[in-house]
Amino acid sequence: METVTGIKRENSEKLFETAKKYFPGGVNSPVRAFKSVEGAPLFMHKGNGAHVWDEDGNKFVDFCCSWGPLILGHNHPSVFNNVVETLKNGSSFGAPTVKENELAELILSRNPFIEKIRFVSSGTEAVMSALRLARGYTGRKKILKFEGCYHGHVDSMLVKAGSGLATLGTSTSAGVPEEYANETLVLPLNDLDALKACFEEFGNEIACAIIEPIPANNGLLLQDLTFLQALREICSEYRSLLFFDEVISGFRVAFSGAAEYYKIKPDIVTYGKIIGGGLPVGAYGASAEIMGYVAPDGPVYQAGTLSGNPVAMAAGIAQLTECAKPGFYEDQERRTKQFVSRVNQHASTKEYDFEMVTIGSVFWLSFDGKKRIQRADQIDPDMSQFSKLFTALLNRGIYIGPSGYEVGFISTAHTEEILEGAAQQFCDALDEIYA
Ligand SMILES: Cc1ncc(COP(=O)(O)O)c(C=O)c1O
Repeated sequence: METVTGIKRENSEKLFETAKKYFPGGVNSPVRAFKSVEGAPLFMHKGNGAHVWDEDGNKFVDFCCSWGPLILGHNHPSVFNNVVETLKNGSSFGAPTVKENELAELILSRNPFIEKIRFVSSGTEAVMSALRLARGYTGRKKILKFEGCYHGHVDSMLVKAGSGLATLGTSTSAGVPEEYANETLVLPLNDLDALKACFEEFGNEIACAIIEPIPANNGLLLQDLTFLQALREICSEYRSLLFFDEVISGFRVAFSGAAEYYKIKPDIVTYGKIIGGGLPVGAYGASAEIMGYVAPDGPVYQAGTLSGNPVAMAAGIAQLTECAKPGFYEDQERRTKQFVSRVNQHASTKEYDFEMVTIGSVFWLSFDGKKRIQRADQIDPDMSQFSKLFTALLNRGIYIGPSGYEVGFISTAHTEEILEGAAQQFCDALDEIYA
């Protein structure tokens, strides 16, 4: 086996020590802290196409892609130019601009599931606002969520299944009152019997059932289509809203997200990440009737100083214009499958307990052999193999998100040639950790 040396980390280590003086844990978002892998987080210096360079001058093929937004890779020329041109006219007005209309038109003219949209500044904000809308529209209090889905750091979503009454939520974060968490019901994913029992007991109180239709924050927990279809039906039966949180899957697996991929119509949808072309944008949308409840048309209040920010809109317009081109998603999926099957074939030949799970241009590294993992509790909590693989990959010039529960992303800048080289690095890294 070839000898691989560790990467230089001196500058990142120094910067992290300084950052610890300023920020809790030295970071502005917890997963960046490298808590579940070795060493200090890498401080990034620049990105171009499929590559990033850190402050020590190491170069990596980037499969984190800013946790999903960069579907065209770093610094895509049309995103860059549109942002710079827009910025020349000013960065923010707190008044409407034509860019908001343009991005809305680009989305709504292609999306058969929503008639109106509201732009906000993050995925969390989109979910928080849309949950309020679901409650305001239905006049009901309870929200149903699924264990293993992440919906941002919204109070009512920082909840897991309680130990007593299986479905009543209990908070997973200090600062979220139990009384509040109790209004969230929590069910396991892909469990039809639990779903039916929950609706029989609480159906008439449930404002909405929120789900990542492609759960991608606790591994990639691909659901049975029949489960998602049953969820649609039972929501309609009890007049609860079906809420697809498409912050990851939106514009990723298809232009109109998992709703388009699975042909299931949600009542309310949230987007984030890709919609902003790498700048902070989130959005929620629904029928004109439901969106009619949002202020200033209706009684559900929601606002934002930087909502619809023209520079962020410009990045989104440029990126989604590329995404809307014919064959975009087919090509992304084809290249991703090719990459994944190369690595999987190697792992299978060598009989490693490892498999890459994939959909669209998303992949997840599963250390649970060939078991089909559809629920969070089916994942082996021992992440030591992931941690070793992470380091082995870094040493070979591959950067993935520093957590075994997170997924990887492929952008248009990941050419077949880059992916072929990266697949070889994955195979070598697997050989190293299983040796
Ligand atoms: C499905 C889903 N919903 C909501 C969020 C929250 O988005 P943000 O981090 O932009 O607040 C995320 C973030 O990863 C997500 O994956």
